[in-house]
Amino acid sequence: MSSTGKYYITTPIYYPSDRLHIGHAYTSTIADSLARWHRFRGDDVLFLTGSDEHGQKIERVAASVDMEPKEYVDKIVGTFKDLWEKYDISYDDFVRTTEERHYRVVQEVFRRIHAKGDIYKGEYEGWYCTPCEAFWVENKLQDGNCPDCGRPVELIKEESYFFRLSKYAQPLLQHIEEHPEFIQPESRRNEMVNFIKSGLEDLCVSRTTFDWGIPVPFDDEHVIYVWFDAVINYLTGASFLRDEAAFQHYWPADLHLVGKEIMRFHTIIWPIMLMALDIPLPKTIFGHGWLLMDHEKMSKSKGNVIDPVALADEFGVDAIRYFLMREVSFGQDGNFSRRALIERINADLANDLGNLLHRTVAMIHRYRDGVIPQPGAATDLETDLQQLAAATAGDVDSHIESLELNAALSAIWKLIGRANKYVDEAEPWVLHRTGQTERLDTVLYNLAETLRIIVLLIKSFLPKTGVKMWAQLGIDQDLEVCSFEDTAWGGLEPGTK
Ligand code: MSP
Repeated sequence: MSSTGKYYITTPIYYPSDRLHIGHAYTSTIADSLARWHRFRGDDVLFLTGSDEHGQKIERVAASVDMEPKEYVDKIVGTFKDLWEKYDISYDDFVRTTEERHYRVVQEVFRRIHAKGDIYKGEYEGWYCTPCEAFWVENKLQDGNCPDCGRPVELIKEESYFFRLSKYAQPLLQHIEEHPEFIQPESRRNEMVNFIKSGLEDLCVSRTTFDWGIPVPFDDEHVIYVWFDAVINYLTGASFLRDEAAFQHYWPADLHLVGKEIMRFHTIIWPIMLMALDIPLPKTIFGHGWLLMDHEKMSKSKGNVIDPVALADEFGVDAIRYFLMREVSFGQDGNFSRRALIERINADLANDLGNLLHRTVAMIHRYRDGVIPQPGAATDLETDLQQLAAATAGDVDSHIESLELNAALSAIWKLIGRANKYVDEAEPWVLHRTGQTERLDTVLYNLAETLRIIVLLIKSFLPKTGVKMWAQLGIDQDLEVCSFEDTAWGGLEPGTK
């Protein structure tokens, strides 16, 4: 991966209609690991998340508990922030769509597209799925229900503003064709291309039958459609209309990470809004799969949602982060089960990683009073280990560039496995017993140095584990400021206690 100087990555902004579950934590954990890795690579990272607070769904939930929408979302957004703190989600900014800075941007965007003639007034008559906040034409419904979530839709008829999506179908198709990296993975790109080719209807972008939204700037009767409002958070977070220099620096976004069910909004509606504004399109929109609970989609109504807070309290945050990224092949659906989680924790974390660390630290204490020795000449065994360590850093980097998080983690675990095997082959206890002092020094140094590199590679994915291991290795250097270059072999100073 070559450092291009900046990396702007976003998560979806979640609905504060309810507390978040482990599926939401899945997206944010991945985004966080990518953001951390890019910082480690030396990029100037802007990692954005937030909350999507308007719309009919939120208005109804708040009303159902006799609260004002704003009062309701304030309470829930607090739980989002607590969750992200618990999960070590290192976001740089959090956009709430009820903030003034966002209001201004949304109204200005609406005004500009309207002035250009791409938003016009009309009347909408058709179907609406409130849980998805999506409009549907009759022939897209499945058995009369929302084709995305399967829930009942409502018939609505109201005056509204329309956005000329249809006008931009051709330029969008051309952009998709010329930029294969734009929509990923490929299967989703094909779905989106088919969707566009099946014909785009102009999109309803305002509502008049409820109030909880940003008013159309020149027509108070209307509130702006919640998805139109929501995607603009990516501009708000990049300082659009607030700080031109910052905007020029960070825009376009490098990666919008989203779940597969909201690809349409991100790869069709959003890019067309940007085209209408003459703003460059984001580089990549990646639609990941779902985390299933015992092979079924998690949902409150099925009662199979998993609370990420309780889970982290039980197993530790890093164990959950590891499981989410390792177990699921990124882009595909993956399954969550307690059994699989416990197996991963026992095998990979306790057995492979835990053992390597504890054996190494214990031997350095026992044989060398806790001081990292000066290594002697390397044999084939050491050369092999050193070569793998060097190759692993490069492998992790290229897997991250192609967004293969599980492959990045398996590469690190291959090195961990190799280091454990090295202990068995080098037999330090025999070296100690038979008085082969220099050879023992070499082996202990090589193990500690491999662990140092493992910590550097692991810390973006498992931040707490990285910090703990670093402390156990007793290295003076500040882990926070270490960069990818520090993964070069030989960085560990002999004499370190
Ligand atoms: N508010 C919109 C997004 C607007 S972005 C401009 C929204 N919010 S949401 O709260 O419903 O969150 C949806 C996102 O949460 C998904 O796109 C996905 O990233 C994540 N997930 C929710 N459930 C999930 C799983 N079961 N598995 C994986 N990710 C899941 O849609």
